Amino acid sequence: SDPGLVERAAAAKAALGDRLFVLGHHYQRDEVIAFADVTGDSFKLAREAAARPAAEFIVFCGVHFMAESADILTGDDQAVILPDLAAGCSMADMAVLGQVETAWETLTDLGLAGDVVPVTYMNSSADIKGFVGRHGGVVCTSSNAERALRWAYEQGSKVLFLPDQHLGRNTAVLELGFALGDCVLYDPHKPGGGLTPEQLRDAKMILWRGHCSVHGRFTLDSVNEVRSRVPGVRVLVHPECRHEVVTAADEVGSTEYIIKAIEAAPPGTAWAVGTELNLVRRLALAHPEQQIMFLDRAVCYCSTMNRIDLPHLVWALEELVAGRVPNRITVDAETAAYARKALDQMLALP
Ligand code: 13P
Ligand code: SF4
Repeated sequence: SDPGLVERAAAAKAALGDRLFVLGHHYQRDEVIAFADVTGDSFKLAREAAARPAAEFIVFCGVHFMAESADILTGDDQAVILPDLAAGCSMADMAVLGQVETAWETLTDLGLAGDVVPVTYMNSSADIKGFVGRHGGVVCTSSNAERALRWAYEQGSKVLFLPDQHLGRNTAVLELGFALGDCVLYDPHKPGGGLTPEQLRDAKMILWRGHCSVHGRFTLDSVNEVRSRVPGVRVLVHPECRHEVVTAADEVGSTEYIIKAIEAAPPGTAWAVGTELNLVRRLALAHPEQQIMFLDRAVCYCSTMNRIDLPHLVWALEELVAGRVPNRITVDAETAAYARKALDQMLALP
């Protein structure tokens, strides 16, 4: 990356000192990760944001829903900054509050809403987290989905899982032992979700029809192809991948899990990793003693994560040095209070 920009970022960071804390998600570019005070998956970053009461400015190098969660978990006197406001998440956009309210009305009309506990993946807007908190539910991330779903299922007899159908299905079937037939897919673009009242009544798990545009592209063919090309390869994938991909893999886990699995493996292990490319490339560089490859060459970066680049980071930091607060992400107080309930419930899971 541009040495001038590297110097400017370093100078601005030094000028801000302890007033600044920079969080970097594992899918961020190397040039941005170089300036992160802490890197992590979305769960770790949420906890880190909550644990930094002294930092006046939290610069969140990740996507919009993560910055919203950080704003909810930090104090009012702390500003959370997203260096590029266009860094959204296509999955989070697949569940809009009005659609979820319509789904809830359908469940209410059928007399089912009292049995349903809503669970939302971290990858959702603050509005959706607020809805879930209002209805006694919980937020989860890919590193605690099993605990969150177990907890929710103990509170009611049905779970409405938003917005990632794959994480919901994979967790329900592979971790909680549900049958595939216990899960139904609710399509927000169809009346009644495209489901009959009987299907909604019988389901244990109502999955929202959302997915990640990056992880959803790995296929069973990618797994079969790499296994035939690289004997003994270990296939390691993120739970946002489709069910047949996760079922065919050797290991499944969040980005933190993927990193730890590779760190703990004996040298010479061959890995085909099914997650975002920035992370896989960084892992390959950091572990030359292992053979780390990308699960499918047709799948690439998360385009919205990649919007945060060094020029945007430098701009945001220099604005702060100049006494301005750029791209502040704020959640209104009422939404934040309910969303916080659902986030706190997550942080309190056993
Ligand atoms: P985790 O950080 O929870 O592994 O989630 C991956 C992801 O897609 C973030 O957008
Ligand atoms: Fe959203 Fe997928 Fe990108 Fe994560 S990797 S920010 S879930 S589109």
